[in-house]
Amino acid sequence: MKTNFTIFLLCFIMAACHNDEVQQYDWAAYQGGKEVNQYAPLQQINKTNAHQLQIAWTYQTGDADTEKNRTQIQCNPIIIDGVLYGSSARLKFFALNAATGEPLWIFDPFEQEGYNAFGMGVNRGVAYWTDGVEKRLFFTAGSFLYALDAITGKLISSFGKSGKVDLHEGLDRDVEGLFIVSNTPGIVYKDKLILGSRVSEAEGGVPGHIRAYNVKTGERAWIFHTIPHPGEEGYETWSPNAWQLSGGANVWAGFSLDEKRGIVYAPTGSASFDFYGGDRLGDNLFANTLLALDANTGKRLWHFQTVHHDLWDRDLPAPPNLVTVQHNGKKIDAVAQITKSAFIFLFDRVTGKPLFPIEERPVPPSDLKGEEAAPTQPIPLKPAPFSRTYVGEEDLTRRTPEAYAFVKAKWEKLHNRPYFVPPSEQGSIIFPGFDGGGEWGGAAFDPESGNLIVNASEMPWVIQMLPHENIAGNQGRMLYNSYCLSCHGKNLEGSAAFGGVPSLVGLKEKLARPEVIKVVQQGRGTMPSFGHLTEEKVNDIAAFLLGEEEKETKEPLGNKKNWTYPYFFNGYSKFLDHEGYPAITPPWGTLNAVNLNTGELSWKVILGEYPELVAQGLPPTGSESYGGPVVTSGGLVFMAGTLDEKFRVFDKDNGTLLWETKLPAAGFATPATYMVDGKQYVVIACGGGKLNRKSGDTYVAFALP
Ligand code: HEC
Repeated sequence: MKTNFTIFLLCFIMAACHNDEVQQYDWAAYQGGKEVNQYAPLQQINKTNAHQLQIAWTYQTGDADTEKNRTQIQCNPIIIDGVLYGSSARLKFFALNAATGEPLWIFDPFEQEGYNAFGMGVNRGVAYWTDGVEKRLFFTAGSFLYALDAITGKLISSFGKSGKVDLHEGLDRDVEGLFIVSNTPGIVYKDKLILGSRVSEAEGGVPGHIRAYNVKTGERAWIFHTIPHPGEEGYETWSPNAWQLSGGANVWAGFSLDEKRGIVYAPTGSASFDFYGGDRLGDNLFANTLLALDANTGKRLWHFQTVHHDLWDRDLPAPPNLVTVQHNGKKIDAVAQITKSAFIFLFDRVTGKPLFPIEERPVPPSDLKGEEAAPTQPIPLKPAPFSRTYVGEEDLTRRTPEAYAFVKAKWEKLHNRPYFVPPSEQGSIIFPGFDGGGEWGGAAFDPESGNLIVNASEMPWVIQMLPHENIAGNQGRMLYNSYCLSCHGKNLEGSAAFGGVPSLVGLKEKLARPEVIKVVQQGRGTMPSFGHLTEEKVNDIAAFLLGEEEKETKEPLGNKKNWTYPYFFNGYSKFLDHEGYPAITPPWGTLNAVNLNTGELSWKVILGEYPELVAQGLPPTGSESYGGPVVTSGGLVFMAGTLDEKFRVFDKDNGTLLWETKLPAAGFATPATYMVDGKQYVVIACGGGKLNRKSGDTYVAFALP
């Protein structure tokens, strides 16, 4: 008896000490852990056997929009004690047996609200808290933060009001009826949940203040004003009334946490309105800023603003990686922030001191009325950017002579400079485009090599601002241009932005007037609500869209009552050739490893392909991608996210492709890898619904036979 027990104990200790004998490994928080390194010390799946991977289980959520292909699943699930927690295409939350995919419970927040929402935007995951006894899950759907019992999937009624907290409340400003949701989970520190938000990027934006909630009660524990109030640091970097009027500067991408030091790192987005800042002159702290806050109190410890007075929607798109690097012969705990511009900013995690030089470089002024672009912008000289950042003549597509001639003629008319060419009436090239460069899929960090591994989309876009004076005087049309055109297009044609915006041509045949009004007032899918518009304005827009009698512009053009800004944004448009392919030479998408010890690029490979071009005999060009990589000590990088709907495994040392397989729908999400009962799995949500791909509803888990 006694020897048996000793042997058992020995085995147990050995299993705990030796990595390769670990029986259980959790993917404990969004993107792999609170340091957000998208890394797992697992080696069962490795370079020698990755080609043997096969499907271990699949789970279908059953609620994808397979008719219009407008739903997505951007979720990076967490796996704790053998249970996977994730979300569905229409924001149902569920627990699965992580070894078999069998559902344990499903929670539908909209049933809770008494209606079944038709797609309520996207959800990227959940946060988990335990005190060793109780286990709680936190997630957001619509404008609410919910707390569930992780074991039963039931609401915790003592949290907030009957299990939920309204995000409109406790913002230190009246934002009733305005658009505020949160797509990315918060992060748990001790008894607090620290949470960000997604808000409107147009007029009527809610301020993106960061809040911590008590995990037991739902009470607000602290708030950090990302748009400072009078007397607070940074207040002078805005117009004096911005704290009451301006919005944005929100953390929509999530946080990372140095649990030991009690520091939370918050990457903020741009101020609203995204593309015109005449009403918010100044640098606009703390927009586009990496903030280091005391996780106990919300007090600012240090900050670095990556774009001053943003006019390009250069939100910080992912939580930063908390890494340890070798720098000048010393080990330094650092924080690495990727950007849409494809820069990597690397700082000492404690002091905020940059590890490599960052130059404040002069950038061109704006020629829009009332606009004052910042005279300089910070450019990190190292680490190396992970994408091209300028479209020169030699970068224009050579796919066919016609394609070249088409884009060359356009290119010659567009404003184009290396870095931060301001929005213009003529049109300016923004490259990498509005979706990066880097995006919400984040970067993986390999502690063994010091490589930061990140996927890049290399797609130029065009930003054009038009004065309202150019439009004929129709009240509904004016309002449409101000609020709707950016997504639905100049001719109501819709666009590929936000995963696919429907055309509103012939709307009369599809929707009745009350339905149109409801969509505008409440929002739908990834379309934000426009709760701040008066009923009269909404009616005027509806009249225009439904082709009803035109109402003359009531106020003279340029009068503030009609619109706040002298310009409107002429839509999210990619710079494409005449057949719809990127206007530049490939690669159009890459996977990159940048060494954070040296600041040099270690390797770069093509990521993704256009199936029809490959069929024509072209080598893979790479494609845009959504979702990020995962790296393991088994020497692998797992990555989906591409247009071709594939899942790939790469050698982390040189980017060699080891294995690929086609998914049931594109995996526009970051995978998760974990171990249950001695078996390693890698799981990916296949929700499609972006880049004109079909929507899907399947989670696919792979493992060795
Ligand atoms: C941020 C991008 C965005 C903006 C701005 C936007 N929309 Fe939308 N809109 C969408 C998306 C995405 C959908 C599809 C939603 C879904 O069903 O998932 C949509 C759907 C709609 C629909 C339903 C169409 C149908 O076929 O069912 C209407 C009507 C509409 N929008 C009107 C407007 C109006 C009016 C405005 C301006 C007040 C506006 N939208 C602003 C993105 C946007």
